[in-house]
Amino acid sequence: MSPQDAWRPRRIGLYVHIPFCVQRCDFCAYKITAGTDLRDEMTAFVEMLKQEIRSVGRLANVGSVELSVLFIGGGTPSMLPIELMEQLLECVTGQFRLAPDCEFTVECNPSTTTKEKLRQLRALGVNRLSIGVQSFDDHILTEIGRDHSSADARATFVNVRDEGFTNFNLDLMYRLPAQTRERLLQSVRSAVACGPTHLSLYPLWVRPGTRLHHRLQHGEVSIPDEASEFDMWRAAAELLAASGYRQYNVFDFTLNDESRSRYTFLQWEDGEWIGVGPSAISYVAGRHLTNAMSVREWSERVTRFGVGTTGGAAVSRRAQMHRTMIFGLRMMPFETARFETQYGVPVDDVFGRELQLLKDLRLIERNDHQIRLTAAGVQRINNISKFFYEQEDALQTLGIGRTGLPIEESDL
Ligand SMILES: C[S@@+](CC[C@H](N)C(=O)[O-])C[C@H]1O[C@@H](n2cnc3c(N)ncnc32)[C@H](O)[C@@H]1O
Ligand code: SF4
Repeated sequence: MSPQDAWRPRRIGLYVHIPFCVQRCDFCAYKITAGTDLRDEMTAFVEMLKQEIRSVGRLANVGSVELSVLFIGGGTPSMLPIELMEQLLECVTGQFRLAPDCEFTVECNPSTTTKEKLRQLRALGVNRLSIGVQSFDDHILTEIGRDHSSADARATFVNVRDEGFTNFNLDLMYRLPAQTRERLLQSVRSAVACGPTHLSLYPLWVRPGTRLHHRLQHGEVSIPDEASEFDMWRAAAELLAASGYRQYNVFDFTLNDESRSRYTFLQWEDGEWIGVGPSAISYVAGRHLTNAMSVREWSERVTRFGVGTTGGAAVSRRAQMHRTMIFGLRMMPFETARFETQYGVPVDDVFGRELQLLKDLRLIERNDHQIRLTAAGVQRINNISKFFYEQEDALQTLGIGRTGLPIEESDL
């Protein structure tokens, strides 16, 4: 560390969770409240959030930190009335210093992102948007219960650019009902035409309790099988590469290095972040803290204790190493020197057996400096992560020979 670095404030991230949406999509299992008239709920919720942000600000010794990342996610934060967003930001900046280059992202969806809203968000200093589209196929959008059309999505991106945003992400999904390889490629072409600097491509995770899960179980709808899913992903990744998007993370593609999500990097670099709002998690000073999941329990806790945290634990060195593997293997590539610099031991001294197994299963490939997931590894990333949590039955957790629905994602 240079003498100048020693005087620099610690850079951390702040994640603010907004659990409201206009309507619930059929695949979505997030804990959200859906409705078109939620103004009162949102106003009361933001009051609570402000209370939690102020408490966290007091506890976190914020004099010595600055925010390099501010991420307002959900849910659908773009549906917050602008005056509530303003209040929220005022509260954040009242507690925390924002680094001059702070990446300030708001998650949006096309139905709640008007031209006026975009202008207002930009005036507040938002410099990155993350917009959920999922597909540009109107039939599929209806099948998955989205509240917008492909034309709405296209119009949103015209407005995003007109309003001067130069850094924005677009979320797409594959493995969706009625989706074929060609239909997915059409969506990827439409997405590229919208000019995002970053694109996330997620496989559909079928979660119990969702409408889609119910419909699948009752044979009312079907999704592509594992072989087609693999084929779809590979074709989409190739098309993105040919369009200039480089994959740097298991789900993420970027047009240039500057547009890689800092939030993703914060996690990989073992950076600290504070999460506020229901279900948010924090990782600060070597401790992992979790907030209550439901708005009700979270609000009760904020009222009583100032924060919505239900528990926390110090992360042991061994657990931290596992964490590094879980986030690291998602990065493409995983630079092995980073592990050694951080822990003072080569990664193979600690995880040599596990990495050899992943290599034998052709889920990773590697050279002396880098490890990279193969296409099959990308498909099984959730199970690979689980493997670094619970290693008792590696073959089963890696889903070897599995068919049918994938093992549930653990929201890492
Ligand atoms: C929390 S949402 C925020 C964006 C906004 N609410 C929207 O949906 O437009 C972030 C992204 O998570 C992804 N997502 C949500 N549920 C998913 C699931 N069951 N399987 C795969 N991706 C999912 C979607 O791509 C979505 O855009
Ligand atoms: S996918 Fe996004 S818009 Fe749909 S219910 Fe989930 S959080 Fe809300």
